[in-house]
Amino acid sequence: MMNVLLLNGSPNAKGCTYTALNELAATLEKENITTEIIHVGNRDIRGCVGCCRCAELGHCVFNDLVNEVAPKFSAADGLVVGSPVYYASANGTLTNFLDRLFFSTPFSKRMKVGAAVCSARRAGTTATFDQLNKYFTISEMPVASGRYWNMVHGSNAEQVMQDTEGLQNMRILARNMAFLIRAITAERNRSGLPLQEETVYTNFIR
Ligand SMILES: Cc1cc2nc3c(=O)[nH]c(=O)nc-3n(C[C@H](O)[C@H](O)[C@H](O)COP(=O)(O)O)c2cc1C
Repeated sequence: MMNVLLLNGSPNAKGCTYTALNELAATLEKENITTEIIHVGNRDIRGCVGCCRCAELGHCVFNDLVNEVAPKFSAADGLVVGSPVYYASANGTLTNFLDRLFFSTPFSKRMKVGAAVCSARRAGTTATFDQLNKYFTISEMPVASGRYWNMVHGSNAEQVMQDTEGLQNMRILARNMAFLIRAITAERNRSGLPLQEETVYTNFIR
């Protein structure tokens, strides 16, 4: 069974971000993809300290939700990151979490499908959306898209329920994500993943 992990970066368990993620997850389930929404934004997640011990340990030196979610991310076919907009950017707890999750995990993220979702009262959504998509596009993760940049608007869940365009886009995004996951799985089974190259770090200092 294919599965998608959804991260709620909001401190609010059942707020706006959750409402968007829930619409997405419900549609993925209808597409026969199992889902799990993990609440990240209410946790005390410290930032990466750049110690690079993860290179030896295979996990982050700080043993918290990051290390709990890592094996789930490894097993997932797709990852959705959801954030409320804070000062026209992604929520700090979520970015602390994602910095450490992506940096500390040794497994390949190649061809896991990514999608970013954000929620705002009014503005800063596209900057947040761009910021979150960068975790995917440095990790060889194809990005699923909707019919609009993935955002909902509101200050609470009730207002987001009135954002019918935003919620429709979550359903469209979910179906596109499911399609991409199925297509990638079929092609991986048919002819494997694209040719991989050794990593090259360009260093201009001689
Ligand atoms: C610290 C803070 C900063 C915020 N900054 C913005 C902002 O820049 N733009 C905006 O439209 N809303 C901003 N908001 C409002 C939230 O992004 C918005 O209400 C969001 O939908 C809440 O989602 P949630 O219920 O999932 O937490 C901010 C809220 C907080 C607490």
